[in-house]
Amino acid sequence: MSRKILVTSALPYANGSIHLGHLVEYIQTDIWVRFQKMQGSTVHYVCADDTHGTPIMLRAEKEGITPEALIAKVHKEHYADFTEFLVDFDNYYSTNSPENKELASGIYKSLKANGKIATKTIEQFYDPVKNMFLPDRFIKGECPKCHAKDQYGDSCEVCGATYNPTELINPFSAVSGAAPVRKETEHYFFKLSECSDFLRAWTRSGTLQQEAANKMNEWIGEAGENKLSDWDISRDAPYFGFEIPDAPGKYFYVWLDAPIGYMASFKNLCAKNGLDFDEYWKADSKTELYHFIGKDILYFHALFWPATLEYSGYRKPTQVFSHGFLTVNGEKMSKSRGTFITARSYLDHIKNPEYLRYYYAAKLNGSMEDIDLNLEDFVARVNSDLVGKYINIASRTAGFINKRFVGKLVSAKNHAVVEVIKAAAPEIAKAYEARDYSRALREIMRLADLANADVAEAAPWVVSKQEGDAPQAKLHADCSSALEMFRLLTLYLKPALPDLAANIEKFLNIAPLTWTSINDSFIDGHTINEYNHLITRIDPKHIEAMIEANKESLQQVAVPAVNSTPAASENVGDYISIDDFTKVDLRIAKIVNAEHVDGAEKLLCLSLDIGEEKPRQVFAGIKYAYDPATLVGRLTVMVANLAPRKMKFGMSEGMVLAASDENGGPFILSPDVGAQVGMKVK
Ligand code: 2FM
Ligand code: ZN
Repeated sequence: MSRKILVTSALPYANGSIHLGHLVEYIQTDIWVRFQKMQGSTVHYVCADDTHGTPIMLRAEKEGITPEALIAKVHKEHYADFTEFLVDFDNYYSTNSPENKELASGIYKSLKANGKIATKTIEQFYDPVKNMFLPDRFIKGECPKCHAKDQYGDSCEVCGATYNPTELINPFSAVSGAAPVRKETEHYFFKLSECSDFLRAWTRSGTLQQEAANKMNEWIGEAGENKLSDWDISRDAPYFGFEIPDAPGKYFYVWLDAPIGYMASFKNLCAKNGLDFDEYWKADSKTELYHFIGKDILYFHALFWPATLEYSGYRKPTQVFSHGFLTVNGEKMSKSRGTFITARSYLDHIKNPEYLRYYYAAKLNGSMEDIDLNLEDFVARVNSDLVGKYINIASRTAGFINKRFVGKLVSAKNHAVVEVIKAAAPEIAKAYEARDYSRALREIMRLADLANADVAEAAPWVVSKQEGDAPQAKLHADCSSALEMFRLLTLYLKPALPDLAANIEKFLNIAPLTWTSINDSFIDGHTINEYNHLITRIDPKHIEAMIEANKESLQQVAVPAVNSTPAASENVGDYISIDDFTKVDLRIAKIVNAEHVDGAEKLLCLSLDIGEEKPRQVFAGIKYAYDPATLVGRLTVMVANLAPRKMKFGMSEGMVLAASDENGGPFILSPDVGAQVGMKVK
């Protein structure tokens, strides 16, 4: 029976732009959803803008518009950003919707009927000028620990201390600047303290990643410990949100109605598509529900949310998938300091969203570890994997089919490498299912290497020059097999690269690929369309321009200084830019083996360890200068990103650096003491 799955990504706040940190999650979810759809499951992917709360209310006021106008404007921007990044929601809605209001009120009433709501009078900071209670983030003052000025009410950005706003020295309202006063007010609480047993069992039942479950264990404590406190779910007017039923002037705290927004977005989709809301949300639902979230909001999704659902008569999530944060060039992005590259800025400069989708996929492994967007590595990986390995298979073979065989293929059945690529399907599917996209892509690129080696071995560019029927038949068969391999690799990459896959489907003249298309193959006479360029390399200049445009947010990123004028020297050639230089990936390599090559006059065959799974094989023209035995164990410098070259004696996978001129050499380079295998030379 086909699976029925409801998937959500966290709802972004309606007062800020989508940035590359957000996109980790939406891209992660979208890849998973697309994979599940390719598998033939029924999947609904819903999301919405998270529209309520004080910051949104104040931002609208500052802009001189109503909160409704603000959230409508931001909704449009968010939706455009997601669409351009190929994040394919089935519904992108808003928490400020009639469905959400009705669901939130209903859930509240059920919680109340189940004895899970209490009221308590508490004391809070109040802005006497603005006449409003102040959330912690809107109170500032001097840090009680390090005395740094102008710190937020909940934590100090200078010394990292966390505290209560009442501990701040000389507090002031960030809204009006007035000194806040303490004022009593009645708040509504969800009695989370009574949910410990349920939550202990739920969080340990396979619903969370191990790391997340451990964290929850700490927070919930063992039976009898009762570590959970009741949850304050109300805020006083003025507040942009839903008024609590029968409690005039009291509003639901934004985090009460935000996750209910998942349900509301789905309910809205049901009305449009005739789906059955209850089938997905009733307590004993047989469908699956998955929330993709960042680890910072685990508390809300693994405690408050399941408890809310449990005590209001709904189903609980099947699993909550948490991911880590994004760093850029190894530095943490900080929302409060605005250190981000916006989705829009990426689109303006880099244009192709699939580069980022591919790079994130290559980094994501289903764990809660942070992932790093290393911009240099981003360029290198996209260019070498996507252009150099994957697209290369078609670009080297399709032209022959188009020109020599009027676009007609012959069947590639029983071709050894095609069979190897097909056989990998279950493992790749397993990796996608587990959200271990990095494993899936590693495997796919290994298969692309095999395909490329197969094409290199077949050498169509050589065979095409040979006269006679046999070479023609061989050329036809070899190029057809290559395109069959390309079709299979496209299928595997489709969840991450949906647009590219759609273009390739057009070029190959095939129906949209699904997972069962693995078992298809081209039949004799299948006609493909003309091959046009499918993807271009990333130009590092566009990265630089993007960094420049986000300069404020990327001060920490090392941008190579290109302005200083180098000293003139007669003996060096024309200048190159630092960008040209950084294209060369130089690495410290250990010579783990060196030997003579039978039949080669000048070459030694070196095995070079640069910290990869297995050493590289490099043929170096240094036979006259070195006895191989004296080289073994030495460190040297190699070019690691030179395209592998097929030589008479085998593949050469790089180059070692050596100095020479008419007076002598070659002398291979040695690094200074301390250099380690794999280190980058720059
Ligand atoms: O942390 C955030 O950005 C929230 N707006 C996420 C809400 S997710 C869900 F619970 F609504
Ligand atoms: Zn401090």
